[in-house]
Amino acid sequence: MADSSPNKAQAPRQTGAFGTEFISKMAVAECIDGVWQPARVVPVAPISLHPAAHVLHYASTCFEGMKAYRTPDGHTRVFRLDRHMARFGRSAKQLYLPFPGEQVVESMVREMLAECDAEMPEPPKALYLRPTLIGTEANIGAAGAPSRDALLYVLGSPVGDYFTGGAKALTIKVEEEAMRCAPGTGQTKTGGNYAAALRQVIEARENEGADQVLFCPGGDVQETGASNFFLLKDNCLLTKPLAPSFLDGVTRDSVITVAKDLGYEVREEDFTVDDIQDWIKDGEAFLSGTAAVLSGVGYLLCRGERLVVGDGSMGPHTQKLRQALTDLQFGRVEDRFGWLS
Ligand SMILES: Cc1ncc(COP(=O)(O)O)c(C=O)c1O
Repeated sequence: MADSSPNKAQAPRQTGAFGTEFISKMAVAECIDGVWQPARVVPVAPISLHPAAHVLHYASTCFEGMKAYRTPDGHTRVFRLDRHMARFGRSAKQLYLPFPGEQVVESMVREMLAECDAEMPEPPKALYLRPTLIGTEANIGAAGAPSRDALLYVLGSPVGDYFTGGAKALTIKVEEEAMRCAPGTGQTKTGGNYAAALRQVIEARENEGADQVLFCPGGDVQETGASNFFLLKDNCLLTKPLAPSFLDGVTRDSVITVAKDLGYEVREEDFTVDDIQDWIKDGEAFLSGTAAVLSGVGYLLCRGERLVVGDGSMGPHTQKLRQALTDLQFGRVEDRFGWLS
């Protein structure tokens, strides 16, 4: 008879794909009845949870996604660690999860990186870091109460490009009805938001060949399932201003800063699907995110039509901004914004 042990560890099925390979160690810290225990760096291994764990029933989970780079001086540096830590803390607060403080998580990241230095990938790869916080209190009666126990761990995953096509321009489905997540939780990086968007993303991929979905409920252009969205035309970038309905991407903020530095005008304004149709005739469109970096959009599946963005390839301004951003991330140019630490 097949082993149906519920605790049997599942190894990643699709080795080689983004997020399926891990360095050998992870940093972990446990919170027991509201008190954080000392953090440790341990071999990556399955974790054991009570079947009544809060996270398994009431989705008390949040995470971060950031990258460490091997810079030309041989050091390993994390890109905008402070911003990611601050967002992690805000997500934990929103979910009433115990949080040990930004400094503790930052130390956990650094200790793990130091112990695994020999496994640090060289450019053009980077190490994707995934701090994860879950509510572990065994209590199925806690639908309306927070978990007093929690587990925090940090995984490291050597990665190349998120989208398998690399720098190829993407095909994006424009979704005007469904929301990605509940309106007030857009800035919380919590697993439930991704589960909520999965049906739209899978259907768009399987039925229409889209790489991702751009959520524009009621015409309001927000973000894709895992990245922020920009339009670009005549030396001007357009993106939605920060709002509780969508994620305040660290890459979004970095692109805005870099673009202004390069002399672009950046408009943070609400815009509609009609505006997209207008801008893409002679403009560019791209996604921004830690995983996606800066990915050009070549086609939009919109209102039953396949619209081409520019000439269907990654536009020259998108390439220029991507280059400027990755030069900073990999430490190939002076760190003039103090983003690597
Ligand atoms: C829903 C969503 N929006 C936007 C982003 C981009 O955020 P960041 O640039 O901080 O990675 C992500 C990626 O983490 C995301 O999952």
